[in-house]
Amino acid sequence: MQFLIDDARLDRVERALNTFPLIGVTTNPSILKVGGLTDFERDLRTIRELVGDGDLHVQVVARDTEGMLREADTIRELVGESTLIKIPTTAAGLPAMRRLKAQGARVTATAIYSTAQGLLATAAGADYLAPYVNRMYNADVDPYAVIRALRQDIDREGVPTRILAASFKNVKQVTDAAAAGAHTATIGADVLDAMLALPQVESAVDAFAADFQAAFSAPGIA
Ligand code: E4P
Repeated sequence: MQFLIDDARLDRVERALNTFPLIGVTTNPSILKVGGLTDFERDLRTIRELVGDGDLHVQVVARDTEGMLREADTIRELVGESTLIKIPTTAAGLPAMRRLKAQGARVTATAIYSTAQGLLATAAGADYLAPYVNRMYNADVDPYAVIRALRQDIDREGVPTRILAASFKNVKQVTDAAAAGAHTATIGADVLDAMLALPQVESAVDAFAADFQAAFSAPGIA
C-alpha cells in the first residue's frame, strides 16, 4: 500500500513527509481551514514546496462543470500541471472528470460514499477514487464492501484507476481498507502517528539498547 498525508497543518505535513514513506499530500477545503491557511495561493505554493515532486491533491469548490474546469486550470497554473484535481463524484463532476482527462490532467474522484459512484468515476477515467471510509461507516454503509467491489471492477476492466481510501479516524480502518483492496490511503497526521504508537514498540527498542550496553559496555555500534 502507498500512503499520503491528509492534512494541511504545515508543521505536521513537513514532519510527516520527513518521517513516513509518503507519496504525497491530499487536501480539501475543510482540511485547508483546519490547517489555519488564510492565503490560498501562498499557502498552496508552500505545500507544493514541501511535497516537491510528490503528489499533491487539491479540490475544486465550484458546483457546476464549467466552474470546476476553471478552478482546475487555476490550480494547475498555481502548483503545477501534475497536481491531482479533486472533483466531487456528482452529476456535474463526472463530465468535468472526463474533460480534464481529455486535456491530460490528473483527476481524483472524491466524496465517494457508494460503489455506484466509484464505478462511474472509474468509467469517467479518474486516476484515483477516494472512498470516505469513516463517513461511510457513520452512514451505515460498509466501506470495505465498497472498496472490494471497486477493486474487483478495476481489476476486471484492467484500467489504471487506483483506490485512494480516505476519511480515517483510527488505525484499524486503515488496515481494513488495505485488506479490502485499497491501493493507497490518505491519513491525517494523528492517525499516521498512531500507526507507530504501540507502547510495546518503544519498550522493545529500549530493551535491545539496554542488552547491547550490558553485553558490550557501549551504548551502540561505533
Ligand atoms: C480526502 O482527502 C477526504 O477529503 C478526507 O479524507 C475526508 O476526511 P474527513 O471525513 O475526516 O473529513
